[in-house]
Amino acid sequence: MRHVMVMNAKGGCGKSTLATNIAGYFAKEGAKVALADYDPQRTSLDWLEARPGELPKIVGIAAFDDGLRSVPRDTEVLVIDAPARTHGAEMNELVRRAETIIVPVLASPIDMKAAAHFMAELLELGRVQREQARLAVVANRVRENTLVFEELDKYLSKLKVPYLTALRQSTNYLRAYQRGMSVFDLPEYLAWPDWQQWEPVTKWLGSKKSLPG
Ligand SMILES: Nc1ncnc2c1ncn2[C@@H]1O[C@H](COP(=O)(O)OP(=O)(O)OP(=O)(O)O)[C@@H](O)[C@H]1O
Ligand SMILES: [Mg+2]
Repeated sequence: MRHVMVMNAKGGCGKSTLATNIAGYFAKEGAKVALADYDPQRTSLDWLEARPGELPKIVGIAAFDDGLRSVPRDTEVLVIDAPARTHGAEMNELVRRAETIIVPVLASPIDMKAAAHFMAELLELGRVQREQARLAVVANRVRENTLVFEELDKYLSKLKVPYLTALRQSTNYLRAYQRGMSVFDLPEYLAWPDWQQWEPVTKWLGSKKSLPG
């Protein structure tokens, strides 16, 4: 079972947006997917409730209640929507089985500062140091040709971890969330720019390089 963790201590940076879209992507690819929600606000579980029956099924796990105990054994990809404010021992426990960790970062000075502290803490974790878990960052909700995006772009490019892509701010994410879909389920004429921006993420997740060893 692959564990894909979406994590950042900072609230509101797009963890649930990325987690639901990654889960939707793998489900569309035909994988058996479970989506674990560590947030008692149930953002990811609410998304699953809205999911139309004709789309491939994704199993929801209320991880904020009882962890990952109820993940079905035949799950191929487990996507984990980690809680905000994770830190210290709790963070260590969360990444215990993650092979891939994606950190979304918003283009704002406050978020970039917070991300710097969070990345430093992540890079100290034994599992990351032993290269059992691989890390990548994704710029989220960007508006191109803005100064803050330029700064974020520069900042993420200088980090020691791969900077996969910048996802634009788009109502497609709101539309998809409301309908229990991913942007990959939206019509091409609407969502092709998003598909293009996601390509490096899905490639990295699917590639051997994103797996340990
Ligand atoms: N690329 C995007 N384009 C437009 N809206 C976005 C995008 N990414 C996230 N959002 C919106 O920003 C808000 C925060 O995103 P989201 O809930 O995914 O963040 P989060 O990190 O899970 O937050 P929390 O820390 O509260 O769990 C939501 O309203 C979401 O719809
Ligand atoms: Mg969330």
